[in-house]
Amino acid sequence: MTEQQRFLMAGVMGWPVMHSRSPLMHNYWFDQLGLAGTYVPLAIEPAGLEAALRALHPLGFAGCNLTIPHKQQAMTIVDEVDDVAKAIGAISCVVVRPDGSLFGTNNDWFGFIDNLKQDHPDWRADAGPVTVIGAGGGSRAVCYGLMREGAKEIRLVNRTRARAEGIAAEFGGPIEVLPWEDRHDALDGVAMAVNTTSQGMVGEPPLNLKLDRLPVTALAADIIYIPLETPYLAAARARGNPTINGLGMLLHQGRPAWKRWFAIEPAVTPDLRERMERSIRGG
Ligand code: ATR
Repeated sequence: MTEQQRFLMAGVMGWPVMHSRSPLMHNYWFDQLGLAGTYVPLAIEPAGLEAALRALHPLGFAGCNLTIPHKQQAMTIVDEVDDVAKAIGAISCVVVRPDGSLFGTNNDWFGFIDNLKQDHPDWRADAGPVTVIGAGGGSRAVCYGLMREGAKEIRLVNRTRARAEGIAAEFGGPIEVLPWEDRHDALDGVAMAVNTTSQGMVGEPPLNLKLDRLPVTALAADIIYIPLETPYLAAARARGNPTINGLGMLLHQGRPAWKRWFAIEPAVTPDLRERMERSIRGG
């Protein structure tokens, strides 16, 4: 076995990438599984993305994750984009194939769903209506996952209605677009409400959403993980709703990436989650 076959390498390309928690997670898995390998943050400017991706093979990398702002641009660079990434419109994971060609897929939807299932084993996408706030890349992954799991009614609201209409037109099925002004009422009778906007993220104002209509049994979810508890989730928790933050989505999207890169499916353990939480709280 050659050195490069034994030493497993992957990374995350972003700009900026300095604050990414992905290296902590993946390197934890190398340690836990007793494998020789490393996962590195790669600060890549948008203009350099193609050259960086093409360098993965000569560097001996199994692949990489992509984060802001590369997820869409990579679609035009890799050699094959799978149907999932095409539907979501973004690549979250690049795999280097043995011949050096690049394959792109998206595991964000899986991260969202797999985390839900681990935390709430009784969760079902068709248990009732789901309201999704926001219509960016995060929303597309969430809506895709919910539909794949059999959601029967998705109420989609976004400040810019046209973006929500775009998702509804592409995805079809159970997505109904409601006006931004109606977002508070859109929580009436739902089984789950998901924030996919940037509102509530560190440095951003809270999401402007009144929870009066949200049934107390409804699951309140956010895909933000910095902070771990957004004002929206804090308000939901205060009134008794079960909540789910965005960290689990990040943790669980890592599992299928490992399966593709290394043919191993690592576990999201309470210990890993605690370490990630500690790192996020520490700033
Ligand atoms: P991502 O790919 O991470 O989802 P994005 O494509 O920039 O990021 O999407 C950000 C989401 O947050 C969008 O739904 C955006 O609404 P618009 O489509 O109207 O821009 C939403 N968002 C950002 N700032 C917002 C604000 N001040 N109020 C409400 N929604 C906001």
